[in-house]
Parts: sequence; C-alpha cells; structure tokens
Amino acid sequence: MSQGNIESVLRETRTFAPPSPPPGAPWHISSIEEYRAKWKRSIEDPEGFWGEAAKGLHWFTPWSRVLEWNLPDAKWFVGGTTNICFNAVDRQVEAGLGGQAAIIWEGEPSGPAGPEVRRLTYADLQRETARLGSALKGLGVKKGEVVTIYMGMVPELAIAMLACARIGAVHSVIFGGFSSQAIVDRVLDAHSRVIITCDGAWRRGKVVPLKENVDAACSALKGQGHEVSAVVTLKRCGNAVTWTPGRDHDYAALTRGASETCPCAPMDSEDMLFLLYTSGSTGKPKGIVHTTGGYMVHMWLTSKHVFNLHPGAGQVFWCTADCGWVTGHSYIVYGILPNRVPSVMYEGAPNFPAEDRFWEIIARHKVTQFYTAPTAIRAFMKWGDQHPARHDLSSLQVLGSVGEPINPEAWMWYRRHIGRERCPIVDTWWQTETGGHMITPLPGATPTKPGSCTLPYFGVDAAIVDETGRELPHTTGGLLVIRKPWPSMLRGIHGDRQRYLDTYWSRVKGMYLAGDGAHRDKDGYFWIMGRIDDVINVSGHRLGTMEVESALVSHPAVAEAAVVGMPHEIKGTGIAAFVTLRPAHNPHDRAAAELLKKTLGEHVSREIGAIARPDMIRFTDVLPKTRSGKIMRRLLRAIASGEEKITQDTTTLEDFSILAKLREQDEA
Ligand code: WT7
Repeated sequence: MSQGNIESVLRETRTFAPPSPPPGAPWHISSIEEYRAKWKRSIEDPEGFWGEAAKGLHWFTPWSRVLEWNLPDAKWFVGGTTNICFNAVDRQVEAGLGGQAAIIWEGEPSGPAGPEVRRLTYADLQRETARLGSALKGLGVKKGEVVTIYMGMVPELAIAMLACARIGAVHSVIFGGFSSQAIVDRVLDAHSRVIITCDGAWRRGKVVPLKENVDAACSALKGQGHEVSAVVTLKRCGNAVTWTPGRDHDYAALTRGASETCPCAPMDSEDMLFLLYTSGSTGKPKGIVHTTGGYMVHMWLTSKHVFNLHPGAGQVFWCTADCGWVTGHSYIVYGILPNRVPSVMYEGAPNFPAEDRFWEIIARHKVTQFYTAPTAIRAFMKWGDQHPARHDLSSLQVLGSVGEPINPEAWMWYRRHIGRERCPIVDTWWQTETGGHMITPLPGATPTKPGSCTLPYFGVDAAIVDETGRELPHTTGGLLVIRKPWPSMLRGIHGDRQRYLDTYWSRVKGMYLAGDGAHRDKDGYFWIMGRIDDVINVSGHRLGTMEVESALVSHPAVAEAAVVGMPHEIKGTGIAAFVTLRPAHNPHDRAAAELLKKTLGEHVSREIGAIARPDMIRFTDVLPKTRSGKIMRRLLRAIASGEEKITQDTTTLEDFSILAKLREQDEA
C-alpha cells in the first residue's frame, strides 16, 4: 500500500432522497441531473461559470479577467472593484428594502419577560456601519490597516466587521473565549494598532472580562515594543473596567457623534478583506488571508444554493457559530446578508438557562435554516430527546452541519429529533482556508447518506490522491486535494510565504492539500476519515479516526468517542479509545465498567472488523476540545502513550482541567 493511502472499514448503506421543497421556497437546484450538468460546466469553464455568478452582485467597475492563476497564486475578478459591505447592506437599502430585518439578535440573560431581542434592519446596519466607519477613520485607521476585533456575540461584532469592510480596513476577529496571550500573538503578527472590544461577554450566566484581557494584552505588547493606539469598548455587561485616557474610547459615545456619511470604499477585488488566525495542530497560529471579490461571490452563491435561501420568502437563517470562527464570518455575515434573509445571532451558551435554549430560539424566531456543529449535536443527544421534543420546530426547512465529520448516528438523531424526518441535512465540508463550502449536498438535489459530505460544490475539483498526485480508485482512502483554484481560496498566510507553500502546496505537487484523509464510495460520494496527522497505523493498516469513533458512537451507551494510536508491544501501534457515556449508561462499579468495555470492543469488531477493535478503552466525562469544538487528539495521544509531561501547545484547549482529569482516571 503506497504512502498516503488509508483503509476504509465503515459500511454505511442508508440513503435519503431529497424531500419536496418547502412551500414558497423552491429548491434552487432540484435534481441530481441538474447538479451534475451544472457542476460539469463549472469545471470545464470555471471563468464562464463564476463570471456569470458574479454579475448577481454590485461592482463599481467590472473585472477584465475572471481568473489569473499562477500556481499557487490565484487572482479572481482581476481589475474589478466592489465593496462587500455595500453588497450586504447598502444595496438592500438602495433597493427600498432598508426596513427589512437583517440581524435578529438574542441575548443570553433571560428574565421573566424572556430574553432581550434586538432586530436590526438593513437601514440600521447602514447607519451603524457608517458611524463606526467614520469613527475608525477619525482614529486614523487607513485602508489596508488591520483592526483587531475581540468581542462577545453582540450585533456590534457584525457591525464592526462590516464597518471595516466599508472603509477598506482589514479585520482580524479574535474569538472572545481566547486569552490575552492569544491577543498578543495575533496583534503583533498583524501589526494592528486599533482594537474593538466589549467590557465583557455573557457566557453561561457569567461575565467573561474581555476588556481586562485587552488591557493585559496591551501592557504585554508595550513590553515588546508594540503600542496599541486605540481601544474602543462597547459596554455590554456593565462590569467594572479600568480606563486609559487617550487610548480608550467608549463605543457608544464615539459612534453617537460620528458622521453617518461614510460611503463604501471601492476595493480592488484582490484587496485583503480579513485575516483570520487558525491554530493548526502545532506551532504558532497562521493568519489566513482572504480577499474581497472572489470571497464575496463564493459566499453569496454557496449560501443561496446550499441553504436554499430566497429573499422575501419569510426565511430566517441561524448559524450557531461564533463570529470568531470562519463559519461566523462566512455564514452569519458575508454570505447571508447579501442574500437578504435575516441572520440570527445568539449571544450565549446552548444550555443556559436550560438544555433546550436552542430549540426555544428556533421556535421563538421561526428559524427556517439551522446550521450547527457535530460536537453540539452529540451534546444534544447526551442531554436527551425530551428537550427538542417540547418545542415547535415545524418552521425548519434545511439543517446544516460543519466542523468535523458527523458520525452517522449523530446524523440520524439530527434528522429525526430536529428535522423530524422532513428536513434535508447538508453536511458541509470546508475549512478556514477554503473560505466557504467545498463539498456539500444541495438540499433539493443530492440524495444524502449519513456521515458523507457527498459531492463537490460548483467549480470545486476535489479528488482523493496518493502522494504522487495519482487519483485513487473509489473506496480507497487517501489524501483529499483540490486541483483547481476556487474564488474564496486563501491567498496566503500573513507574513509567511514559506509556510503557505509547505503546508498546502508541497506534499502533492500542483494541488491544494487539505490535510484531511478521505475516500469516495462507489457513487463518488466523499467521506472524510479524519486529519491525516491523526491516522492510526495498526499492523500495517492505516485507519482514519472517524470510522472507529463512529462505530463506538453507534452503540447506545456511547455519547462521544475519540480514538488515537498508542504504542503496542505486538502490533507496534494499538488503538486507544476515550469514551464519554450517555448518563443512563454510567457503570456502577469497576466490574460493570470492565463488562461495558468488553461489550464496546465486541461492538466495534462486529461493526467494522477486528482490526479496529480498541486495545484500550477509557471512560471519561469530557474530551479535550478546542474552543471551536474539535477534539484535540494529539493531547490524547500523549496521555495514551503515558507521556509524563504534555509539552505541546495547549493554548487553544477549551478547559485546562480536562488534562488533569484524564490523568486522574488513568490512575484510578
Ligand atoms: C477542518 C477545517 C469549516 C469551517 C469550520 C472549521 C474538518 C470541517 C467538516 C465536515 C468532515 C469537516 C476538516 C477540515 N471539517 N467540516 N463537514 N466533515 N470534516 O474550520 O477550523 O478551518 O477546520 O474541519 O478536518 O479540514 P477549520
């Protein structure tokens, strides 16, 4: 077996035909034949396909060429000028639709009268982005300069992003759950001098002290010779903050007095729109560079097709991600607003005040499109079916999943308990680097299979190859690559050309390496098998993490599972499984625990084969995850191999106490 190949052992045979369209919202693409014909055309003539698509948006000046491709550098809509804030906001106002809802925001705290809800229209967004844009200019922010945004999930976060886009500043949003050290690293890397923040952010009834973190970061930065010239603070939680005169500005006071005249700056299609830092599995975070025109077109079109958006049809779109991740950039703000469907923003946690908060929100706002992550879905499963069952979810039309491979059992649960067997599920595969959807079902066209992200989006030439770039036959696992440029592809890693070349363009010549292992089934459907760095080599069989984990999750006692390789005397590498159980299945004593471990081992053998049977199973209450919900398998690897000290970077870990807990269980 050649390097790069991965063996597939999971057998999933369930298929679901696309349902009939919701009333008043016909499917944009309504048959698999239509999808295939359109996809074929988009691959044969990408410039024709994307050029035509881009005409649906506003450009100040047209492009002269759709694509200029000098591997690995793409330029899209060359010479064209546009503004993404104009397309998201001003265009709707100019069309006389300024009074329509653009953002529906719900705060976390909830009193007897319910939670605080704010509805912002396109006219509101136009006024507020203009004011903040003027204020930023007043603070000396110039076109192309990086503004750092570190806020909770309040409407002003979206406004801050759009205001930057409006005046041609580049934004760098840092997730509000990150520490002050994360701010230091990112501000330094981006040479950013202006920070927009909040006094605090509500999270599970507590206040996260954002301004305090910014203050600490600014002092640390000063020590390193970097001066932050302005910090703009929105008062959200009313927690006490310290104030540095001259540097600190109150958001409300600053924008209240600012001019409402602040035209959208015509931006070159290839001007930078934002930087977004992604941790990667090791090393310092990478500042992923995204530019304006191609990103704008890709977000607008994927939002429309994948979620089946129709302006004026009463739809309400909700993506549960934080704007600190690319999912929030692309599918709360930049893809949704230009489609003129209101976008829901929720401030807080899914289990506050109770485990049914999300279902309450869907019922309250009559959400039609719901987009969330597998980690959340597995938590919902663990919390129990009774929570969604209590709520009216009949408004839902399309369900989405993103962030990790979704285990087939989680997919089935999502379909039954949230979609009530009516709604298609779009399992969208993409990355911070790809900007937008790459492999995904289209809800009215693609028959779906639980656990598969199905087929490539228009213009996306995805393939499974070995290290030499040779396409592998169907059902053989290998490296997931993209062979042609796409409009929203990253343009680089900020300040590190070599890392860009090494990470994405070196291992397989001439192709973009996604870093995921995957295979295609006999129908050509893509199945993501996990990150290639996590592949486990058992007696010469290279197994992806996803399939073994899904076999475990398909047992009724299991809520979530993570598998990693560990040293094994005979096999070289064995499989270690970390498993969280559903509450009703927690074993009472050691004997019961041993019995359940044996049962689970047999279950995996039966489901996918003896080769994948874990050599060690450990029950745990929690798994180490990043703040965006991805399991950090490299930490589990260190624990499973009995490493004395974790020497790796743990700054993105959600809960530091988890490592100690996992070790304690080791000794128990
Ligand atoms: C990695 C990208 C995509 C925006 C949020 C995460 C994994 C993402 C899926 C999916 C299987 C998925 C991949 C990918 N991933 N979506 N539908 N099925 N795996 O962005 O943090 O840049 O992570 O997330 O491993 O490479 P990101």
